[in-house]
Amino acid sequence: MSAGGRPRVLLVGGGGGFVGRQLLPLLLREFDVRSIHRHPVASEAVPGVEWVEGDVARLRDWTPVLRDVQVVVNLAWYRWARPRRFEELYGGLRGLLTAAIDAKVHRFLQLSVPAAPLRMERELPYLRWKRRFDQELTDSGLSYAIVRPTLLFGPGDVLLSVMLRMVRRYPFFPMFGDGSFRVNPLAVADLARQIRKLAGSSTVGQFDLGGPETFRYRQLTDLLFRVAGRRPRYWTMNARNGIRLAGLLQSFGSNLLYAYEVEWLMSDLLVQPVAEGIGGPLERVEPYLRSLLPPPG
Ligand SMILES: NC(=O)c1ccc[n+]([C@@H]2O[C@H](COP(=O)([O-])OP(=O)(O)OC[C@H]3O[C@@H](n4cnc5c(N)ncnc54)[C@H](OP(=O)(O)O)[C@@H]3O)[C@@H](O)[C@H]2O)c1
Repeated sequence: MSAGGRPRVLLVGGGGGFVGRQLLPLLLREFDVRSIHRHPVASEAVPGVEWVEGDVARLRDWTPVLRDVQVVVNLAWYRWARPRRFEELYGGLRGLLTAAIDAKVHRFLQLSVPAAPLRMERELPYLRWKRRFDQELTDSGLSYAIVRPTLLFGPGDVLLSVMLRMVRRYPFFPMFGDGSFRVNPLAVADLARQIRKLAGSSTVGQFDLGGPETFRYRQLTDLLFRVAGRRPRYWTMNARNGIRLAGLLQSFGSNLLYAYEVEWLMSDLLVQPVAEGIGGPLERVEPYLRSLLPPPG
């Protein structure tokens, strides 16, 4: 417990990232938050938050960070990094897990990702090290929740907002294959509500979470054009060329879309069960897209 008598969460990865920004204010309604990550963020300069500067991959002594902590929520991971960095971050999280068991924390929540094609699961360091940690948490004996949201949208997202910008700016939008693979994007605000609920519950397991509307990818991109007020015009390429194009952009240092993300998208494995049971309707895609448009006039 904190000095104020409220339970305390250790937020690993902090309240400054895409998910963390939505989650922090919800957690603060019932918890004090100790937040560990590398760079300071203005949103954490509020009562109830204690920022600890730290790189999870390097921290060796978790004991002081875990003092008086009942619940650990881990958000930290890299979208793209050298293979070694995933292994190092995994190593740091493993140290945290061992220390959390010793400290007898009540609950450990881990943000993870949906299933991917087997080859990617086996070979991609992003997934291999993440899954290894997920498995160790599952086997740890702690009360845990592994939360696996699908594609997320919301303020500052790097997917739908970027796609809409491209649709508005360029004459053609790339279409991978026939675009028949499915997606059901989830609002990051709805994910945050789920995480907050799971932080306060004792239900153990894996929670696969998707949004309320399932689109074929091509339907989603048609919607982007409609919202932008334009007729859909595609630059169609087969699956392999789609992955190649992303790989080429990546090799020039672009972080628009990584080759592994294109392969994953086309696998049709990203569709997740609808994230129900958090009270109130889930956010839909179209109003969010419209909110991104500049005001008329
Ligand atoms: N975004 C999505 O669509 C999506 C979908 C499914 C699952 N997820 C999962 O959700 C989690 C959060 O994703 P996100 O999009 O919010 O990521 P994000 O915006 O990149 O935020 C991650 C946060 O983790 C911190 N962090 C990264 N490496 C760290 C390290 N070595 N030590 C300490 N802190 C570190 C960063 O803060 P500092 O820079 O201050 O350290 C950053 O604020 C990830 O595990 C991701 O795999 C995301």
